[in-house]
Parts: sequence; structure tokens; C-alpha cells
Amino acid sequence: MEPAIVVKPPGPNARQILERDAKVIAQSMIREYPLVLQKAKGMNLWDVDGNRYLDFTAGISVMNVGWNHPKVVKAIREQAGQLSHGAFLDFCSELPVRFAEELVRLLPRGLDRVSLSNSGAESVEAAMKLARHHTGRNFFISFLGGFHGRTYGALSLTAGKTVQRARFGPFLPVIHVPYANPYRPPRGCGPTCDLDAVAYLEEEIFRREVDPREVAAIVVEPVQGEGGYIVPPLSFMKRLRGICDRYGILLISDEVQSGCYRTGRFLACEHSGVVPDIVCLAKAIGGGIPMGVTVASDEVMSWPRGAHASTFGGNNIAAAAALAVLEIMGEPDFARRVVDRGKMLLRGLERLKRKHPLVGDVRGLGLMCGMELVLDRDTKEPATAERNAVLHGAFESGVTFLSAGYSAIRFSPPLILGRRDIGIALQTLDSALARVGEGVSKND
Ligand SMILES: Cc1ncc(COP(=O)(O)O)c(C=O)c1O
Repeated sequence: MEPAIVVKPPGPNARQILERDAKVIAQSMIREYPLVLQKAKGMNLWDVDGNRYLDFTAGISVMNVGWNHPKVVKAIREQAGQLSHGAFLDFCSELPVRFAEELVRLLPRGLDRVSLSNSGAESVEAAMKLARHHTGRNFFISFLGGFHGRTYGALSLTAGKTVQRARFGPFLPVIHVPYANPYRPPRGCGPTCDLDAVAYLEEEIFRREVDPREVAAIVVEPVQGEGGYIVPPLSFMKRLRGICDRYGILLISDEVQSGCYRTGRFLACEHSGVVPDIVCLAKAIGGGIPMGVTVASDEVMSWPRGAHASTFGGNNIAAAAALAVLEIMGEPDFARRVVDRGKMLLRGLERLKRKHPLVGDVRGLGLMCGMELVLDRDTKEPATAERNAVLHGAFESGVTFLSAGYSAIRFSPPLILGRRDIGIALQTLDSALARVGEGVSKND
């Protein structure tokens, strides 16, 4: 359904709740605009003042099958009356087992043992612990601009914005290296940024800073999410796989945001044909119910009983919701649609780039698309305030987008979106870019 703004947001009900929120809730998150939700369905969100929005966020890539999908709602309702907390750590129940069986069928061969938890950060923590346990090594390599969560291990890997790390150290021993960013190649690199980023790891880091025999894992997002929806060259993952094989390092693919068909394949790493040693999933897999999943081979996930667990891991409501999600994603044409719609969205974004000088770059894989705003196409100076103004303008017109990185807009709609939804979103974005762009040229 198209957006319908009946009261300029935030309306009176939203304002009242936001005032209460400001008094009692820790204000350590960043909200792009004052949206107070009441309900959601499919591609739409409703706020507490009766405004209807077209959603291009999927709640940060969680509602891939659409908000409140009837099959997910039914599964949750039925399971809530049966068994919610199944104490999976102490007792067994069938649903989490069935979920794990269904999941490994979708994954590359060899990824066949599953550890269940409750969030992306937890799935990353499990992956890090497992990598250390399996290799007996201490260090990790991750990437500048990467985001892996807010708990200590995951935060140690994260290097996107200093505010996320300031005053929280010391961290685990993680070395951050440049990501293969085609629009902003690591300093000194040419268009073969993947080659150079990887070469830097071997020629500099492994020579000067850490012996590769001390590195437990390289942790990578196959498409960088929070860092700006950056799509590296396909060869990047392959070259990382090569380095890992050379030195006995494990490759951990953090698919918390890029997984669950977000990019058109179940895992984003499948595009490059690379099979990681450990995969982290969360967000969309639970269809709106918290769930974290860490998958590895039988051989890697050989830690002994008692080494790792979680009270809520394997929760039966989460497993029921996740099974419904897998069923929906297995419907004919689900993945093909993502590829098709993704191409259509990207073509539309390219058109906007040609029209608006504010747009420095557009990129995407499936429905994980980004648009980076810059003040000047030559210097690529990030247009952060302008990006925020565009998001705000779109919100007031009834379309929700989110930010990523310093000056990118992220497009991560529910994967069920229709062609018409794309048209509406592009039109809204076009108007918001025009309004904000006019302000920029007046100030020149
Ligand atoms: C790639 C990636 N890994 C891990 C996380 C952390 O997930 P959570 O917020 O569920 O802990 C996120 C969250 O945005 C993410 O994008």
C-alpha cells in the first residue's frame, strides 16, 4: 500500500510517547527520525497517529519475509500456547532440531552443525570462541568499516564509528585492515582494491604485526552493512579464502545482515562461490523473534560439552518462527524476485545518480543497495548532514529509509516488495534529493 500521511509526524501521540521514552529509556541508540510504531504489515508501517509508511528498512534487514507475515504470526501464536521456553540447554525439543535440519539443507555442504543463540552479537561471540577453541590461536583479523555487534568480542571486531568503541576498551586482540571498497579504495590502492587490501594483509600485517600462525580467524561481512552497504569485488572473498587456507586460519562469514536471501542467494558469500568455515546468522532468520545462529562443520564445531551454551538458545517460539521463515523463503520464485527487484531498484538509483549531483555512488547486490551522498564528486567529501536531511524528508513524505556509514542511504526493504513500491520509493527519494540538493547549490 502507498504511504498516507494524515498528521505531520511526529503527531501528538508520538510526541507524548517520545517524551516518556526520553525520561526512562537509555538514549544510547541513534534514531534517524521520530517514528513511533503501532503496527506493521507486509511493506507497511503505521505510527501511533494513524500515518501509514512504505517501509524500505525491514527493521534493519529483519523482516525479509515482510512485516507480520501471516504464516510467521500463526506459527508464533500456535507455539506460544504449546511450549515457548523449552530449556533447550537442559532438555531437548523437536522444533529447534527440525529448524537446524532445514537450515543446513540450505547451506553449502560441510556446514552442518548448528549452535543456537539470541542475537547477531551472540552468534559472532560463539564464532569467535569456536575459532579460538578449534585453532588454539589468539588473534583475529577484521575490517575497517565492519560492524559485528556490541558485546565485547563482537565490538572488538567492529571498527565503523569510534563512538561505538570509545571508553569501552581494552578489547580482544583484533587487527583491523582496509575493506575492499571500490568507491573509496584503501589509500594508495588502485581499481584492484580487493587485491591490494588482501595484499596489505599478507605483505604488511603478517610481516610486521602478527604471525599468521597466531591468527584464529578472519571475520568478514561479504557485503559490508552498517559500514555503508559496500559491495566488494567478487574476488575479495576468494582471496581471503586463499589466505586462510595458506595459513590454517578460519574464515568467518558474518551474514547477520547479508544472509537470508537479502542479496538474492541464501548467503551473500555464495555469489563468490566461497565456503566459509563458520557462518553467523541472526536478524531475518527469526522473522522478528530474536534468534542467533552459528554454523560450522562437524570437525570445527567439536568443542566439548559444557564449553558453550545459552539459556534461551533454541527457544521454541523462535524456532517455530524461523521454520515459517524458511518455508516462505523456499517458495518458488522467492530468490528470483529478490534478484529481479534488486536490479530494478539499482537501475532506478542509477537514474537518480545521473540526475542529482549529490549522489556520488550507487551499488548493490540483490536488495542490499546503497547510495552514497557527497558534497563534491571529485573530492568525495561525505554529505552527512544532507543524507540525514534526505532521510528526514522521505520520512515526512511517508517512506522509511535508514542510513549506513557516514553518508550512505541503505535500501533494505522487505524482500516481498512489488514493482510499484520501488516506483513510489524512488519518486519520494527523487523529491527529497531535489529539495536538499537545492539547499546545497544555494550555499555554494
Ligand atoms: C553484520 C552484522 N553482524 C552482527 C550484528 C549484530 O547483531 P545484533 O544487533 O542482533 O546483536 C549486526 C547488526 O546490525 C550486523 O549487521
